[in-house]
Amino acid sequence: MTDETIRTVYLDYAATTPVDDAVVEAMLPFLGTRFGNPNSLYAMGRDSYRALEEARDTFASAIGAAAPGEVVFTGCGTEADNAAVLGIATAAKARNKGAHIIVSAFEHHAVLEPAKRLGKQGFEVSIVRPREDGIVYPEDLAALVRDDTVLVSVMHGNNELGTVQPLKELAEVAHRAGAYVHTDAIQTLGKIEWDAADLGVDAASFSAHKIYGPKGVGALYLKRGTPFEPLLIGGGQESKKRSGTQNVAGIVGLTKALQLMIAERETESPRLRALRDRVIEGILAMPNSLLNGGRDVPRLPHIANLVLKGVEGESMLLQLDNKGIAVSTGSACSSGSLEPSHVLLAIGCPPEVAHGSLRVTVGRFTTEDDVDYLLETLPPIVERLRAMSPVYAKMFGSGA
Ligand SMILES: Cc1ncc(COP(=O)(O)O)c(C=O)c1O
Repeated sequence: MTDETIRTVYLDYAATTPVDDAVVEAMLPFLGTRFGNPNSLYAMGRDSYRALEEARDTFASAIGAAAPGEVVFTGCGTEADNAAVLGIATAAKARNKGAHIIVSAFEHHAVLEPAKRLGKQGFEVSIVRPREDGIVYPEDLAALVRDDTVLVSVMHGNNELGTVQPLKELAEVAHRAGAYVHTDAIQTLGKIEWDAADLGVDAASFSAHKIYGPKGVGALYLKRGTPFEPLLIGGGQESKKRSGTQNVAGIVGLTKALQLMIAERETESPRLRALRDRVIEGILAMPNSLLNGGRDVPRLPHIANLVLKGVEGESMLLQLDNKGIAVSTGSACSSGSLEPSHVLLAIGCPPEVAHGSLRVTVGRFTTEDDVDYLLETLPPIVERLRAMSPVYAKMFGSGA
C-alpha cells in the first residue's frame, strides 16, 4: 500500500467534454416521462414536438440562421460533415452545376473520407493546403476554384492546431465562382462568436459533445436554397433532410449546452486563453520544442499544439497517462503503424518532427494547478525519452 494517490488531470477537452449538470437536468424529462415520439399526433407526441421545435428555434438564433428550418439535427458531428459534403456535391452535380470540389488538406476525416468517396464517384477533388501558420489563405483557394466547382469545404477552427480560418473571405472567393461553402465548425461552436449570416457560409456542422453536451447528437446548418440530397432516407423527418426519429433529449441537451457556453463565454474565453498560453510558454521553455501553427494568427482559446523534437508522441502520452494526465498527440495509430498527423504534415511539419507532437486542450474544469502539474511532470519524461531516442541523438547529438 502506498499513500501516494495519483491525481487525474484531464487536458483533452477538444476530444470530448463532460456533460454539464444543467444539461443533464434539461435532458432528463425526455428520457423519462416525456418520451413521446415528436412525430406522433397525440398529446405526448405534440409535447415532444414542441420541445424539439423550441430547441430548433433557440439553436437557429444562437448560430445566426435566418430561420429555424435551416437547422437539421443529426446523430453526430461526423454525420453532419458526411451529409453536407456528399449531399451538397451530389445535389449540385444533379443540377448540372459541375463535378469539382475543393477541401482543405487539414480537414477532419469526417470531411476527407466523403471527399475521397466523391473522387471515386466521378468528382474531381482538389486540395487546398494551409500554410505553415495553420491558415488557409483566400488567394490559395482562389487559385483552385473553377466555373465547375460546386463545393468548397474548409473547417473553421482546426481541431489539432486551434487556428481559425478566414471563413468570410474564403466564402466570398468560393461564391464568386458559384460554389457552395461548407465548414466544419465543430471545434468553434460556443468557443468564439458564430454567426451564419455574417460568415456567409451555406452549410456548417456542429457537435454537442465538444461543448458539455451529450455524445451522439449534432446539427447541420443548411442555408435555405442550398441543394441537398439527404444521406439518411426513410420516414422523412427533419423536413426530409434527415430521416430517423429525432433524439429529443440529445437535441434539448445540445441546445442547452450551447446556451450555457454563450452565457459564460465573456469570462471563460480569457480564462482559457490564459491557461492555454501558460501551457505554451511552459513547454516552449523546454529545449528543442516548438509551437505548431503561427503564434499571432487567430486561434481558438482552448487548443495548444506543440512538438518536443526527438520524442515519440505516443510514448509521451502513455507516460503522462501513468501520472494521471490525459492529453492527445497529433499521431494516430492506424493498422499497427504509427502515422504522423495529416494536419501537421499539411502545414509542412516533417514527419520525424510531427511524431513528437502533443495537443493539450483546456476546458471548464482546468485550473492553473492542473497546468502546473503538467509542466512539472512533462520535462523529466521528455528527458528520459530523449536519452533513449536514436532520433534525438541523430538530430541534436546525445543527451536531452
Ligand atoms: C473538427 C471535428 N470534426 C468532426 C468531429 C467528429 O464529431 P463527432 O465526434 O460528433 O462525430 C470532431 C470530433 O472529433 C472534430 O473535432
